Formats: sequence, C-alpha cells, structure tokens
Amino acid sequence: MAKGKSTVFFCSSCGYESSKWMGQCPGCRAWNTLVEETVNKRTSAGGKTGYGTVMHGKSGLTMKLSGITLDDEDKLDTHIKELNRVLGGGIVRGSLVLVGGDPGIGKSTLLLQVCRQLTEDNIPVLYISGEESLKQIKMRAQRIGEFGDSLSLLCETDLGIIEDTITKEKPGVVVIDSIQTMFSEEVSSAPGSVSQVREATGILLRLAKNLSVAIFIVGHVTKEGTVAGPRVLEHMVDTVLYFEGDRHASYRILRGVKNRFGSTNEIGVFEMRNEGLAEVGNPSEYMLNGRPGGASGSVVVCAMEGTRPLLIELQALVCRTSFGIPRRQTTGADLNRVNLLMAVLEKRVGLKLGECDAYVNVAGGMKLNEPAVDLGIVLAIVSSFKNKAIPQDVAAFGEVGLSGEVRSVSMAKERVREAYKLGFGTCILPRSVSGQMSGIGEDVKLVYVDSVKEALDFL
Ligand code: TYD
Ligand code: MG
Repeated sequence: MAKGKSTVFFCSSCGYESSKWMGQCPGCRAWNTLVEETVNKRTSAGGKTGYGTVMHGKSGLTMKLSGITLDDEDKLDTHIKELNRVLGGGIVRGSLVLVGGDPGIGKSTLLLQVCRQLTEDNIPVLYISGEESLKQIKMRAQRIGEFGDSLSLLCETDLGIIEDTITKEKPGVVVIDSIQTMFSEEVSSAPGSVSQVREATGILLRLAKNLSVAIFIVGHVTKEGTVAGPRVLEHMVDTVLYFEGDRHASYRILRGVKNRFGSTNEIGVFEMRNEGLAEVGNPSEYMLNGRPGGASGSVVVCAMEGTRPLLIELQALVCRTSFGIPRRQTTGADLNRVNLLMAVLEKRVGLKLGECDAYVNVAGGMKLNEPAVDLGIVLAIVSSFKNKAIPQDVAAFGEVGLSGEVRSVSMAKERVREAYKLGFGTCILPRSVSGQMSGIGEDVKLVYVDSVKEALDFL
C-alpha cells in the first residue's frame, strides 16, 4: 500500500470504501452517494485508531468472568425518566452514545438538560461545542433553568486538544456537539467527511473506554446526505438514539435504535416548550388531545412502541373519485397496507371502494407501521365510506389477513389496559387473544371478532 496522501471514495450513507467512483454504492445500494476524499494512508481511512484500543486493564491479560464486579453505580441517573427508559436505566460509564436527528430538532437542548440534571448530583460534566459560542450556550442554558457548578464548557473542534482536555479533567460525562464539526489532524479531509467522522469517533471511543467517561455524540442527519451521515458510526458506538418528530408539531420522540445496555424499540416522548424539552409521561393522552367528537372516519387504535402502549387517533376520508383512477394517500400509515386493506374490503365485504379516493391520516404526525393497526384502518375507512361515526369510547386493534380474518397481535393485554386507563369503555380485538384477558374484568367491554365483517357489524 502506497504511503502518503491518496484519494478514496466513501459512501456518505453507509461508509463503504472504494478506490474508484461508482454511481451506486455496492454496500447500501444508494445512488450517487460516493464522495471523493483525500486520506492519509499512514493512519488509514479513519476509525483504525480504534483498533489499538486497550479497554481497561493491561493488554493481553485475561480476566475471569466471575472476577468482574458490577456496581449499580455504573449507571448514572439522568433524572429524565423518558431518557432513562431509552438508555436502559441511565448513562453507563464508559459508554459512547450517538444522538442523531435532523438539525433543529432539539439535540443540543436535550443534552444540555442532561448536563443540568447531572450537575445537581455534582457529577463533573464537560460540554464541548463546535457549533455555538459560549455566550450562545449560556443563553440556551438560561432558558432551561438553574445549573449546578460542575458543568464546564469548551468551544473547540480540534480533537487533539479535546483529547488532552478530557484526559486532564477526567469528567464523568462529556457531550460532543456535533461530530460533524470535529476534526483530527491525522486525517486531511474536511470536517464532516466520512473519514474525519470515523476517525473522530475512533478517538472518542478509545477515550470513553480507557477513562470510563460516558460520551454523548451529537450527529446531524440530512436527507440529501451531503454531510456524512452518522449512520456510518452506528456500528462503532454502544448506543444509538434518534430524535424524531415533525418540525411543525411540538412533540419529539427519542427512539433507541441500538443499545448494548438495554432493549431497543423503546421510545421517550418529549414536548418542546419555551423552557426546553418537557417529558410527556402519558403520550396517549397527549396524542388524543383535540379529537373531534362524533365525526365519521375517526377511530382510536392501540399501537405498541417497544413495550409501551400508545393510543392514537386514525382518520380516514373516503369520497367518490372525480378522475378515472382513484387516489390513495396516507400520512403516517403505510400506503401499500392501506391499498391491500381496501382490496380486502372490496373482495371480502363487498364494499365498492374501487371508485373511491381514500386518504388515511395518523393524527399528531406519528408513524404507525405495526400490523396491529390494520383493524383500525379498516374501521376508519368503512366509517367514512358509510358516513357513520364510531362511538367515542371505542378503541380497536388487530391484524387483518387477506381472507378478511382478524388475527392475533402481541401484548394484547397491555393494549386493553392502556385503553381502560384512558377511559375507553369498549375494545374491539381479535378473538384469538381472548385467553389472555384474565384479570381485565368488567372494566372494559371486550368485543372479540373473527373477521372484518364481524367487526363492521359494530358500526
Ligand atoms: P436545538 O437543540 O438547537 O436543535 P439541534 O441541536 O438538534 O440542532 O433546538 C433548536 C430548536 O428548539 C429551535 O428551533 C428552538 C427550539 N427551542 C425551544 O423551543 N425552546 C427552548 O427552550 C430551546 C432551548 C429551544
Ligand atoms: Mg445543536
């Protein structure tokens, strides 16, 4: 391998490395994502620094599994319940956590709030920003509230200096905002390029493991993929959290995508307020706010997000098409699934939906991709088609098969419980889950159905 500088092509989406340009990335099949970068072959294409990592103890020395002790102390409590849930109980010492999301979604705000909570426990925290000045961070901090004395700030983008500072100060938690602004002199390409981002993460990984500091890395994701997406880092870090949410809606969802210390699929729900992010302890109630009364085409479904039941309103509008080809549109639901369910209704129930436009909307900007919402979609479509409202206190869930049968779904009891908790009096659910309903009692009227036809009798 030739020493010195040379150029290599990297996929900005998955990090695939190639010596020549290609239109399509062989790694992730994305088109036009390969970008040319100059790399210093001596340090090799980024990230390799992580290979030499010695993670606690002397290299080459083995340890008996039974000889390793765990303290509860190893997890730092953030005092933000919604975040703890996603992290798997708290911040693990020596872990590397990637917080990704669109610019402006609230990543810096959330992490500054974490810093604030940690300072209350007097844990030394270092917030390193490559994007904002000290004054700007102070202004944000003032909106969030009172801070303890253990938070230090640093505006720096040079990883060499950052490494020295962390080694010298040995804080408990470090926040790097954002990885796209950091650069290492070992790599000659620009900050934000794939090789820089990988190199930077490699250095931070080594620091985290050697010094037992928990490091949060902020990573921006852009749709165009012009900035090296932090997706290339996902395999390097311990935990990946994505901050999602409609820019226009005030709620934000923090989703665990990867977690070496807890379950993924967990979500934390926040609301962006004037004074920072507030936790939403009961998302179902929040999502159902402002539901229209007695309108046709609206139904509440019980979906699951990880281990957490969520009640969400689903709306459908079905009207006669004015053009030859009916129009089908969805927001938050899967369009193909809606098309399939409409075909089931046409064939198995005999509704003439072929001449109708249909619009399906998940209220509040949530995305529902679970099969358990099928029954809800079907009920909403038929309710709108027949212009008959579904009673306000009905919630439904169940998967719909191609023969029009309603099939069982997981965690049925939790879904029913959540509906009861929020005052729903009736639940429409698959008959096959009836065996799991012990202990539900008379609180909720359970309407078991075998087929879509049976469920529609309810209308
Ligand atoms: P920010 O944390 O800067 O986003 P990111 O770091 O992900 O780019 O959040 C920016 C948005 O949040 C901005 O549009 C303003 C809004 N915001 C509030 O509504 N209230 C607040 O208290 C703060 C600090 C920000
Ligand atoms: Mg920011």
